[in-house]
Amino acid sequence: MDVGKLRADTPGCARVAHLNNAGAALPPRSVLDAVTGHLALEATIGGYEAAEREAAAIEHFYDAIAGLIGARADEIAYVENATRAWDMAFYSIPFAEGDRILTTSGEYSSNAIAYRQVASATGARVEVVPDGPDGAISLPALDAELAKGGVRLVSLNHVPTHNGLVNPAAEVGRLCARHGVLYLLDACQSVGQLAVDVREIGCDMLSATGRKFLRGPRGTGFLYVRREIVPTLEPPFLDLHAAEWRAPDYEPRPDARRFETWERFVAGQLGLAAAADYASALGMDEIEKRVVSLAATLRTELAARPGTSVLDRGTRKSGIVTFTVDGHEPRAIQQAVREQGINVNVSSPAAHGYDPDAVAAAVRASVHYYNTEEEIGRLLTALP
Ligand SMILES: Cc1ncc(COP(=O)(O)O)c(C=O)c1O
Repeated sequence: MDVGKLRADTPGCARVAHLNNAGAALPPRSVLDAVTGHLALEATIGGYEAAEREAAAIEHFYDAIAGLIGARADEIAYVENATRAWDMAFYSIPFAEGDRILTTSGEYSSNAIAYRQVASATGARVEVVPDGPDGAISLPALDAELAKGGVRLVSLNHVPTHNGLVNPAAEVGRLCARHGVLYLLDACQSVGQLAVDVREIGCDMLSATGRKFLRGPRGTGFLYVRREIVPTLEPPFLDLHAAEWRAPDYEPRPDARRFETWERFVAGQLGLAAAADYASALGMDEIEKRVVSLAATLRTELAARPGTSVLDRGTRKSGIVTFTVDGHEPRAIQQAVREQGINVNVSSPAAHGYDPDAVAAAVRASVHYYNTEEEIGRLLTALP
């Protein structure tokens, strides 16, 4: 990987040591150009006319995302963020009284709120599968829960927002397939940093965002739904793009675009396609290798500092590194390093409400392949 060239391709690298890629990564120039170019075209010739002119590029979005995650173009929907993408899948599932929803302690709280809402409306039950000793979902515990029956959905994230681990998504997929249970994977923090292949994982639905490790624009995301189950899921909201009006009734589209709306941030869709193309051209295996190695370096260096605790769990770890420094508030650390041109974030327990081990707050430094060892060194020097 020619890191110098990749950094030259990323305008933000000249200004900041950006270690907040799990928040929103720095986009490469091709993403910036796709977004600003289309906004300029809309302003010059009109929004509808610009979309018509760029119809082929808009259509390419579906191939670009499908190619990135091993899906087919008709299994992809463009949605404005990961939460809505996930919602469109989750709220399409017809839950009934007594249905069991299995999730993990590392679940993102927006999803947990949706479970509670649906549970109180339908009588479905939400159950947190115990963690294994490393903090990731326990596969034997999941297998045992599935064997009891009544499970309508297994729903978890691939990479939690706050504890550095990678859940064994493909092993979960094999268990779900064996028990014939629907599987929804929140890949918001994994797409763009880890190689993600929906066939290998075996998930039925997968949601992701544009702005994080994928390096796309804010306000973009996508949903994957396996072709065979699209017809079984009626989205909670439909418009006349998602469904066809056949007086006096309607028919949802046959493909995953039934989860979309007609009106959209077209410039963002083109920017997200450019981001997916950029990642695919670099190669997700190469990206993952560098991200994981930079994060391992950062963890090792942090752990060697007196008074610094690395909180990450998991046998397999991602590019998300969380830590605390004795006697220093994470927010104060974030502020202090920002004054030195270094971006990190703070994770708060409100985002992962099921986690019994969550600390009050932690510094979250999330690396990407365009970061350097020198930037990691700068962070370590800037810490109190
Ligand atoms: C694991 C996980 N899922 C979902 C989301 C929500 O993504 P979005 O803000 O794009 O809706 C986040 C955001 O941080 C996340 O970390």
